[in-house]
Amino acid sequence: LDHFKYKDDVAFCEDIALTHLADTFGTPVYVYSETTLRQHCRNLKKAFEGHPTLPCFAVKANSNLTFLQTIFSEGFGADLVSLGELERALLAGVNPKEIVFSGVGKKPEEIRRALEVGILSFNVESQYELKTIAQLAKEKNIVARVCLRINPNIDAKTNPKIATGLYTTKFGLAENEAEELTESAKRDPALKLVGLACHIGSQITELGPLHEAAVRMAEIAKKAQEKGHQLEFLNMGGGLGIRYKNESPPSLQDYANALIDATRSVGLKLVIEPGRVIAGNAGVLLTKVIGVKKTPAKHFIVVDAAMNDLVRPTLYNSFHEILPAKTARNKNLGPSKKVLCDFVGPICETGDYLGKDRLVDLPQEGDLFFIRSCGAYGSSMASQYNSRPRAPEVFVQKDVVRLIRPREKLDSLWAEELSALNKNFLCGQ
Ligand SMILES: Cc1ncc(COP(=O)(O)O)c(C=O)c1O
Repeated sequence: LDHFKYKDDVAFCEDIALTHLADTFGTPVYVYSETTLRQHCRNLKKAFEGHPTLPCFAVKANSNLTFLQTIFSEGFGADLVSLGELERALLAGVNPKEIVFSGVGKKPEEIRRALEVGILSFNVESQYELKTIAQLAKEKNIVARVCLRINPNIDAKTNPKIATGLYTTKFGLAENEAEELTESAKRDPALKLVGLACHIGSQITELGPLHEAAVRMAEIAKKAQEKGHQLEFLNMGGGLGIRYKNESPPSLQDYANALIDATRSVGLKLVIEPGRVIAGNAGVLLTKVIGVKKTPAKHFIVVDAAMNDLVRPTLYNSFHEILPAKTARNKNLGPSKKVLCDFVGPICETGDYLGKDRLVDLPQEGDLFFIRSCGAYGSSMASQYNSRPRAPEVFVQKDVVRLIRPREKLDSLWAEELSALNKNFLCGQ
């Protein structure tokens, strides 16, 4: 469900034509629909209605402050993985008691800050992490709330680069290791074991692996409860997939029912860490055609967005639908002559593509296209590669447009380096 629709021949985000946004803010530009974003938050909460559940938005999916503020205002907490994400979430107004902190490599300064603000729990992924948290909590005279992240060795049947639930990945603790750690946590007065967690991967389009993980987690939780651990919640991670092309991911209700049914017997609150399912289809990347070229092998539509703006096609070979922001011109040209084209950016890499082998009416210079499903893992994964300033982000609600991140200024790309120009480096002095 989203609010990017054609009205006659022009594509709109809510009540605003994408062509108008391109004229106002230039291209490339990320465009988000606030109504869609809020609707996704509400639909998810509704699916879990009746079972105590805290959804913690995976900040890595989209970490823009206004975007986060909107999600937190819908009653979400935050799932985060770095000090930067922690500070962003706090600035955006998250309740610290609704923060879970994941990741295999938390540094002492990150743990200290999270202890200071009093988060809901650390998702502990290793023995060394539990030891460090206990030591830092002792120094601060605080009891650290911890949750053990289990690796249930379940194949999420997704892209291997975003599958996290197998022993061949770096994530989580094997069940027997987790059992040992529950005992060390019990003995340590600086630690309070409040939950168990797992996250088996992202863009999961089958219910089976998610259900299997929930069943396994309920069994592990039951054992821990029998040993006297007073758990508060089970954290089932994120991972629910969305439709980019022709996938048919489970409905929110089927997903919620699967998790609730599998874990009901342990009587625990659920925490979930959705990212993509909330943000993905709430945003598009709007881009302009620089030119069209033809090699003896194929046609290339060169646009002004590139892999630095949206890296998913390059990194995961993932598909994003690419549609014209205005279709009228092509219609006036008579019967359409569709050509197989690659949409590519200006970056000097053959891997710099946004879509391959798309059947489209050949565009002209200056024509606009929008790349769908870019609200998650789009702007948050953007870089300045090729010294390209990062694209601006705009938020649309009905006919109101807010610039929520301006286009990065060219001179800010090297501002930090200027002071070092022409200075000798003094080694060891
Ligand atoms: C620990 C953790 N939780 C939640 C998520 C969010 O996943 P998704 O965006 O697929 O819902 C991720 C992303 O991979 C993650 O690593």
